[in-house]
Amino acid sequence: MPDGAEPMSDGRLIVVSNRLPKGDVPSGGLVFAVHEMLSQTGGLWIGAADPTKTAEDGLTQIGKGVYDRATFALSEDEHRHYYLGYSNSMLWPLFHHRADLLSFDQDDFDGYARVNARVARAIAEVAAPGDTIWIQDYHFLMVAKYLRELGVRNRIGLFLHIPCPNVSDLMALPQGADLPGWLAAHDLVGLQTQRDVSAVSDLLRLDRAIERLPNGGWIRKGHRFAVLSFPIGIDAQGFADTAASAPELPLRMPRDAPLILGVDRLDYSKGLVQRFDGFDTYLARRDAGGPRPTFLQIAPGSREDVAAYQEIRDQLERRAGAINGAHADLDWTPLRYVRRNIDRAILAGLYRRADVALVTPLADGMNLVAKEFVAAQDDEDPGVLILSHFAGAAEQLRAALLVNPFDTSALAEAIDRAIHMPLAERLERHAALRPMVFDQDITWWRDNFLRHLRGHAGFDRAMARFSAP
Ligand code: ADP
Ligand code: G6P
Repeated sequence: MPDGAEPMSDGRLIVVSNRLPKGDVPSGGLVFAVHEMLSQTGGLWIGAADPTKTAEDGLTQIGKGVYDRATFALSEDEHRHYYLGYSNSMLWPLFHHRADLLSFDQDDFDGYARVNARVARAIAEVAAPGDTIWIQDYHFLMVAKYLRELGVRNRIGLFLHIPCPNVSDLMALPQGADLPGWLAAHDLVGLQTQRDVSAVSDLLRLDRAIERLPNGGWIRKGHRFAVLSFPIGIDAQGFADTAASAPELPLRMPRDAPLILGVDRLDYSKGLVQRFDGFDTYLARRDAGGPRPTFLQIAPGSREDVAAYQEIRDQLERRAGAINGAHADLDWTPLRYVRRNIDRAILAGLYRRADVALVTPLADGMNLVAKEFVAAQDDEDPGVLILSHFAGAAEQLRAALLVNPFDTSALAEAIDRAIHMPLAERLERHAALRPMVFDQDITWWRDNFLRHLRGHAGFDRAMARFSAP
């Protein structure tokens, strides 16, 4: 389809993400969000197959239902270079401002480019004119470029679930100068926050072929594209219903003891060590006659073949042992650290039972746990959300107790304040948080993104409304 022309119809929605839902594996926010979205719209979801010895072109259909699912093949070698290597040892740390954790390897980039090209060929084979292609996340930054090279003119959107690097971080990426061109191959690049939109706007200026349009959009070699923020949401009502009807919790602690909850994939970006340090400081300072809280941290292992993830796991285990060693009593274990994947109904019940949620990432695209916690609360007796400034969710959830996760003493103070917060203040904060989660939910996110991607007619108007600073 020529640039600027209207699509014939909305066609089918084709979504591609590296991960598909899979049994017991902790899936992360993206998989829950895409599942909820496609359950409403139908369409085709393409994701990676388990690695095998060799990989061939094409897709394998693995499920038909409200939406169809298909996998693209991945060889063990490609899994190592594309997924463990370039995606998770290069792009993930870089985009989470951890250039110190980068590991360079030309083979990793070659594997990434090869897999992106194969995915593009597979999409090009199944996409009909009028279909909308929606690419998810950092695993596929080059797919749109390859699709355009194959002559695909469909609408192509990218949503980046993670934060964006700033220009100086990007200098650490050998392919940094190419990134603006990869982004420019889409029609719409969606980001979690305005902060990310500003970062991408700065990056785009690195490419001399890219120009800013008066309406706030961008153009490269005659192809117009937009960069806007669409903060991702959750199925808030569904989650609230699950929380309200959750089964009895298998928790062994006094009913009136405060429960502090953390729920995260075990990732260095989540600030878990700093969070444990904050809790340690809180325990050291707490009034001995005061309430004896339990801090339950649920953190299933993630990407365990990457060294940085093994290190954070070891570090956390040591900290958990030391904290309980220093503060536990015969009848009290202050910190419980669970590495299992938890059934969603139980998880929802835990959020509702919790008096305090600790969501304190050092960098995070959005953080859906923060929104799940708000959705799960009893509106008449809500818990307190302690939220890092560095979670994308902080742009919307201003009424949370906002903290700097690097400041151990401030974290300890926030925990103390949350535990003792009077009902009136909890109600006031919750009343301000609730609409952000229930009104800007997953349906709002999807509709908003697709409306902008599909409807070029409204593009100019929309861009004027959303234009980046
Ligand atoms: P990320 O996508 O970086 O993992 P998010 O907070 O955005 O972080 O999303 C995490 C998702 O994974 C949430 O939907 C959360 O409920 C889910 N989750 C995290 N830990 C567990 C666990 N142990 N058991 C079940 N679900 C989990
Ligand atoms: C984050 C990323 C997703 C990823 C998820 C789980 O949410 O944005 O793209 O799927 O983490 O990580 P994994 O590597 O296990 O898929």
